[in-house]
Amino acid sequence: MAEENSPVTSQHSKKHAPALTHFQGHWCLSQLVPNVISFQKHFQALDDDIVLASKPKTGTTWLKSLAFSIMNRNRFTLSDSPLNSSNPHDLVPYFEMTLYKDGQIPDFADVSSPRLFSTHLPYQALAESIKQSNSRIVYIARNPLDVIVSLWHFITSKPERADWTLEECFEQFCRGEEAYGPFWDHVLRYWKESSEKPNKVLFLKYEDMKENAKPHIRKMAEFMGFPFSVEEETAGVIEEIAKFCSLSNLKDLEVNKTGTLAASPRQTKPFFRKGEVGDYVNYLSNSAVERFCKIFDEKLSGSGLTF
Ligand code: A3P
Repeated sequence: MAEENSPVTSQHSKKHAPALTHFQGHWCLSQLVPNVISFQKHFQALDDDIVLASKPKTGTTWLKSLAFSIMNRNRFTLSDSPLNSSNPHDLVPYFEMTLYKDGQIPDFADVSSPRLFSTHLPYQALAESIKQSNSRIVYIARNPLDVIVSLWHFITSKPERADWTLEECFEQFCRGEEAYGPFWDHVLRYWKESSEKPNKVLFLKYEDMKENAKPHIRKMAEFMGFPFSVEEETAGVIEEIAKFCSLSNLKDLEVNKTGTLAASPRQTKPFFRKGEVGDYVNYLSNSAVERFCKIFDEKLSGSGLTF
C-alpha cells in the first residue's frame, strides 16, 4: 500500500496512455507531480478567489466560458469578449498545468481581484489556503460513461496517442486508475464538501446544464458573488450568456477551430466535439456499461449522488 505522499508510478501504464503516478490518494499525471507540490506549497488564496474544479472532459471548457462571462459582463460586451479571440483555457488558467508548470512560481501582483482559476485536482490535493480561506469552488460533474468516451476522443486526437484503444481507456476507469482518478473519489469528495459547506462548493452537473442552462447560470452568478439584477434578468442577459457560451457558438470561432492554446502546443479544436448526453451508447457495449455501472453505483451508494 502506497504512503500518502510517496509517489508510485502506475504498473499498468500503457505505452500510449499518459503516465500516471499515485500521489496523495489519486492518480496524478506523472509530469504534473512537481507542479502540484509547488502549487500546494506556494499558492495563497484570497477570500474572493473563484476556483473552477472538474475531472477532465466533464464540461470544464464550458464552465470556464460561463464563469468568465458572468464575472466580466460589466467589463466587456459579449461581442467584445476576449472569448472571441482566446480559448477559455487561456483565460482561466489551471494551477497544475499552467501556473505552476516547469518550476514557475507565478507572480499574481498584476492579477486583479476577484481572480478566476481552475484545476482538475481532487479536493484533498488543493492548496490548504483554498480550503481555509473564504474562496469559493464551482465544481462540474458529468456521467462517467460519457466522460470515458469524450476522454478517449480527446487523447487520441493527438497523433502520438492515436492507437490508445477505447478498451484501455475504459479499463483504466474501471480500475479507478485514470488521470486525477478514481472518478468516484473525485466526484464524491466535492459532493460531500458541497453538501456540508454549500457556501464553499457549488456542485453542478453537465446533464442538468444541458437540459436548461439558465437556472444554473443564475445560481453560479449568485454563488460567485455576481448576481444578475432584475434589469439584467428582464433584458435577457442570462440567455445571451448561455447562447454565447454554447458549444455551437464557441466551436465556430476561428480561435477554437484552428488555434492552439497559448500555454501549450495543444490544438483548441478537440475541446469542442459533440457535447451530447448519453453519447456513450454509440461506443460502449451493454455489458461494458453494466460492468462499469455496477462498480460505480457501489462506490456512490448511500451518497445521494446519482448520474
Ligand atoms: P464530448 O467529447 O462528449 O463532445 P472538457 O471541457 O472538460 O474538456 O470537456 C469536453 C467536453 O465538453 C466535450 O464533450 C465537449 O464537446 C464538451 N463541450 C465543450 N464546450 C462545450 C460547451 N460550450 N457546451 C457544452 N459542452 C461543451
